[in-house]
Amino acid sequence: MTEDVRPRFDDPVDPPPSGTPWTVLRLLRWSTQYLDAKGVEGGRLDVEHLLADTLGVGRLDLYTQFERPLQPEELSAFRPRLLERARHRPLQYILGRASFREIELQVDERVLVPRPETEELVGAVLSRVREWGRDDLVALDLGTGSGAIALSLLVEGPFSRVWATDSSADALEVAEANAASLDLSRRVTFARGDLFQPLPDELRADVLVSNPPYISPGELASLQPEVRLHEPEEALVAPGDGLAILERIVDGAGEVLMPGGLLALEVGAGQAPAVVERLEEARRWGTPVVLRDLGHHERIVLATLERERDPAGSPRGTN
Ligand SMILES: C[S@@+](CC[C@H](N)C(=O)[O-])C[C@H]1O[C@@H](n2cnc3c(N)ncnc32)[C@H](O)[C@@H]1O
Repeated sequence: MTEDVRPRFDDPVDPPPSGTPWTVLRLLRWSTQYLDAKGVEGGRLDVEHLLADTLGVGRLDLYTQFERPLQPEELSAFRPRLLERARHRPLQYILGRASFREIELQVDERVLVPRPETEELVGAVLSRVREWGRDDLVALDLGTGSGAIALSLLVEGPFSRVWATDSSADALEVAEANAASLDLSRRVTFARGDLFQPLPDELRADVLVSNPPYISPGELASLQPEVRLHEPEEALVAPGDGLAILERIVDGAGEVLMPGGLLALEVGAGQAPAVVERLEEARRWGTPVVLRDLGHHERIVLATLERERDPAGSPRGTN
């Protein structure tokens, strides 16, 4: 008796005729249709990533192998992963990794999947600090999660050390593993606790970067199931209108930054004006700069801590 090589799904949509061999192209098409029927966005691309990873080939290599027949064990390995995606588990958690700028990070349900907006945040910091012409900068990353920001700064920027905090011990385990696999453990210090609390009192950083939780509790229900059901709530939600943690960072940043130091925050759409207002009220920051993401939403706020004022009231040594 010949073995039935068809994938056995819980509730397949439009299965191919019995006995039809599964080729790469046939499986890509069928699986994309399956994910579409499950309301999963970006189905084709995700299916390509899942199948390529399962077969141990590059995603684009699939395009030269469309007629490759799939072996029963390949189908058996692919099937549960497709089902996970159909249940809206994020692709990166299924693969166990995510790309972030120049690095690849291990990710799972203990950490937020790093986002393109955060890649832009790191890019904005790098372009600012490169203008300073130094190579021994110290950065601070509050709410480090997978370590995406902290580790990218070390890989790409003129930083000698990064301090990174997170309230989640689980997240820090992931961040530490990522630092180790990038051979960066000696240049990053991870500390568990609330925002600034685990940092040494005497620490002064040149840059403070953070992508903190900024979604209000009420907004959570309206998010995609990928986010709402799978990503850690502690990484997403901040009390009140979602601004509570951002405001605490703004309030504490002046105490840990060197004079002239850079504060760089990722904020939710619509939150930039409130963050800018808080910075202006503190009267110790240069004029904040707000950057938009690719969708034209204001998502990044940058501000420079003023240098000490001389008795006449003008900042000393500002550039
Ligand atoms: C939006 S995620 C950002 C993760 C990572 N920096 C990134 O950009 O992908 C926010 C992170 O902040 C952490 N967090 C939440 N509240 C915190 C707090 N009060 N103090 C320190 N970390 C906190 C969460 O555990 C989570 O890892």
